[in-house]
Amino acid sequence: MPNAYQLSIDYLVKEAQEASRLGIPAVILFGLPKKKDARGSEAYAPTGIIQQAVKAVKDRLPELVVITDVCLCEYTSHGHCGVVKEGRVLNDPTLELLAREAVSHAKAGADLVAPSDMMDGRVKAIRAALDQEGFEMTPILSYAAKYASAFYGPFREAAGSSPPIGDRKSYQMDPPNVREALREVALDIEEGADIVMVKPALSYLDVIHRIRNAFNVPVAAYQVSGEYAMIKAAARLKWLDEDRVVIETLTSIKRAGADLILTYFAKDAARLLQS
Ligand code: PBG
Ligand code: ZN
Repeated sequence: MPNAYQLSIDYLVKEAQEASRLGIPAVILFGLPKKKDARGSEAYAPTGIIQQAVKAVKDRLPELVVITDVCLCEYTSHGHCGVVKEGRVLNDPTLELLAREAVSHAKAGADLVAPSDMMDGRVKAIRAALDQEGFEMTPILSYAAKYASAFYGPFREAAGSSPPIGDRKSYQMDPPNVREALREVALDIEEGADIVMVKPALSYLDVIHRIRNAFNVPVAAYQVSGEYAMIKAAARLKWLDEDRVVIETLTSIKRAGADLILTYFAKDAARLLQS
């Protein structure tokens, strides 16, 4: 991914400082552990990379909202978002690990936790665990409508999280299905999600719009790695005017109804909007 790097904590703090200076209100952190194992134990280790990173950023920049991605795929040797047994991803045994991960992020100082795994019942499990540990004020941003998309390719390459065996179709959603998105969002809200997210963004603007109209919680949209890479590649070939396309795509995501946008163009967009 052009201009996207795996950062050590010292560089992360610099990056966060720059984002904050540009007026970006929040960052989301994804972790890459030294060692991956079958149960993704670095995801919920008290001294894991994300736990250290959150502390470092919040120490220096208490005003910046720090969100953490809660999932196992960056930490598991098999690259799946949950516990795997006999080639299958097991939903319920994964919930406890995700809850543990979310609590450990909150303990490190995360302002919001964002489960991206798509296991059924994880919002409820995470909400209960957070409440029990005294984090009833920590909100959950749920990746509620996350499609099994080809647009995640560059992210998986950057995070080394592409499962060598199998795919994510048993837990991520089927692209032609919009009613399932509405059902997933309703369930997540019922389970305690404070913000619901649609992912990817540009190919799913109708989904964003439908959700925005049907529910009264903030809707987030994630302009994912493949959407970013596509624009970057075309701009590099001088086939597209990058700045204009960035603003136009972000505008369309807002127009569809997103209250919040996650984008790898955040710094560029902030600069463009200021000028
Ligand atoms: C994993 C996760 C993914 C992304 C963020 N967290 C995708 C996946 O591998 O299913 C994708 C983000 C992007 O493509 O920018 N749970
Ligand atoms: Zn995952």
